Parts: sequence; C-alpha cells; structure tokens
Amino acid sequence: MKLLNIQEKFIKVKRPKYLIKLAKNLIKFEEKGTKVYIPKERYTIDLSLTENPLKFSKKILKVIDKEKYNINHYSDPYNRELKKALSKKFGIHENKLIFGAGADGIIENIVRILINPGEKLLMPDLTFLNASFAAIIAGGKPIFSKMNKEFHIDFDNLKNKIDKDTKMIFLCNPNNPTGLIESKKDIIDLVKSTDALVVVDEANIEFGGESVIKYVNNFDNLIVIRTFSKAYGLAGMRIGYCAGNEELMYYMWRLRPPFVNTYIAQKCALEALKDRKHIEKTRKYIGNERNFLSKELRNMDFYVVNSSTNCFLAKVTPHFKSSTEFNNLLHKNDCNVVDGKNFRSLGTDYVRIAPQLHSTNIKFVKIVDRLLKEKAK
Ligand SMILES: Cc1ncc(COP(=O)(O)O)c(C=O)c1O
Repeated sequence: MKLLNIQEKFIKVKRPKYLIKLAKNLIKFEEKGTKVYIPKERYTIDLSLTENPLKFSKKILKVIDKEKYNINHYSDPYNRELKKALSKKFGIHENKLIFGAGADGIIENIVRILINPGEKLLMPDLTFLNASFAAIIAGGKPIFSKMNKEFHIDFDNLKNKIDKDTKMIFLCNPNNPTGLIESKKDIIDLVKSTDALVVVDEANIEFGGESVIKYVNNFDNLIVIRTFSKAYGLAGMRIGYCAGNEELMYYMWRLRPPFVNTYIAQKCALEALKDRKHIEKTRKYIGNERNFLSKELRNMDFYVVNSSTNCFLAKVTPHFKSSTEFNNLLHKNDCNVVDGKNFRSLGTDYVRIAPQLHSTNIKFVKIVDRLLKEKAK
C-alpha cells in the first residue's frame, strides 16, 4: 500500500515500532472511506459547516476590545470563572467540570486517557467520527452498531454489542450528520444498563433535544460534552467542556497541558453564556432556514431526512449519479456541502447540509435548481 510506505519513509526519528503500527492502523481505517470532514477551502456559498451564521453575541466584540491588551496574560488553568458560571447554570459541582480545546479537544482527551490497547470503544455507525480515530491512536478498537431504518441510533443493537472489553460508548445527541434527536430515556436507560463509560456529545444540543448533563450527579459512568463552537458562535476560539464524575475529571485535568484555553477565549465564553437571547435567536433562525431548505429540496423531488436541529441529510440520487458528482458540480459554482461518503455507512447517496444565512440558502437552492435543469437537457 503506497500510503503506508510513505509513512515509514518519513518517520525518521527513532520511534518505537508500536507508534508506527498505530499510525498504520489509522491510515488503514481512513482508507476504508472513513474520514473526518475538514474543508480544504472556503466556498462563497458554503453549507458544509455547522457554524453559526448569526455569529456570536454582540457583547463579545466589547469583551475582545476590553481584553485585547491583556493577552499577555496566561489563562487560568482552572477556568475558575467559567466553571462557577456553568456549575450554577446546570446545578453541577465545580469539581465535575473540565475544559478543553472545543468538544474535539475533550473527545481526544477522554479517549486517549481512558482507552487502553485492545479495549473497545463502541459507537453508532453514522455519527461524528473523531472518537473512533482517537481510539485507534490509543491502540483501542472502534466497534460500530447499526442505525435503524430512519437513521436513528438502534439502542438494542448498541446494547447487544457491549461485552467485557467495551470500555467506552460514545454517542452524539443531537447526532451529526443526521441532525436527529435521541430521547433522554433511551440515553439514560443505556447508562443504567452498563458499567462502561457512556460519553454523550451534546455539541449541538442548543438546537434541540433534552440534555442529560445534570445526570452526571446520578451516574458515575456518564460524561457529557458541550462546546461554545456552535450556538454560541465561538468555533474559532476553541473552547468546550465536559461534565462527569469528580475523580475521573480530576485525573483528566491532571493529564492534560495546563493552558489549553486562551485567556481571551475564557473571557468570551463567559460573556457568551450570559446572552440567552442570542441562543434563542440562533435556534429560531436555524430552524426557519432548515425548514426553508428542506421544503425547497422536497419541492425539487429530493428525499430529505426530517431533522429538527442544525443540519440534515438530503438524498441526491437518482437526480445525480452520486453525492460526489453532486458536490463536484456545486464546487464549480463556488458552492459546497458535505459529501456523505465522509461518513461511515452512508455511501454516496446523501449529502449533509447545514443552513446558513437566508441569502446564502436562496443562492444554494437556485444553483441546485439550475443543475437539475441542466441534467434534464
Ligand atoms: C457532534 C459534534 N461533536 C464535536 C464537534 C466539534 O466541535 P468543537 O468545535 O467544539 O471541537 C462537532 C462539530 O461539528 C460536532 O458536531
């Protein structure tokens, strides 16, 4: 395999063979078609990323202006101000909270610290994949459970896959890329049914679904991840957090570098948290735009999965040969969505669409309409 040779050639520093083996495992996994979507470039009409089109609270600019001469300060490694605010918001003890470089940073931290070589990380087949990559890097094994026909998590199938080597179960609510919400009952039943650690990634929870964050007070095997990247509009600041049992959070905190979040990110996140109106406005706006896009696509005869959050799946075949053909045609029009082939088990029928500003969404609809007409010629 070509890629693997390149890998060996370039690892010139003397490394234990084990690291090379892990790198090879990761590349093999990716070569099976499972990749993280990382945009190579920005398109003018870009509906690929779930970034907040309304950006962030207006108060954030004031914070940046006020704090800009203080960025010589190291940040507070304990994140005390933010911890206090979140502890109050959720009714969770401060010692149950730790912070990371976005939800991604937390996922990386949890998985690499807790998964030992040979241990399994179980997750649904169609979801945000970063935990599976982290598991491979840790020497663990990602195991996947089936989705049901409506693209929801099949909780029975998930539970049946749990065995003595299952260290962790990872799921997202709402799920990405489907935008579908799982019930609090199903999630808590799962937590109760196992000794494995259940990690619930609630990066997009402000858009729909019922959070289980306060249940970390009841269950030691539950970790809930949140972020300031999505509804709060601070993706570029890289700040997220998780809640879980005190002992675990303590060790996770000890086993990470001290200054993971920047001084300015901590100040902005604190301010963002206070502006509930911005979150409400964002949720409403995204809801309207998701409904607008879904309706327009359905009018053009596309099958659209019925999401009630900030992204959704649309089936682009048989109008187009595949999701890749569809996206390539969009690219020629300076437009972009996520090709479903980036996600395990989705194949090349679907694309993931994340609503943006209304003016952008209108342009997207017009381009799709034109592409369909050109196809019909
Ligand atoms: C479910 C889920 N988890 C994690 C992330 C990463 O978020 P962050 O920017 O906080 O790292 C995303 C972003 O797309 C996501 O949808």
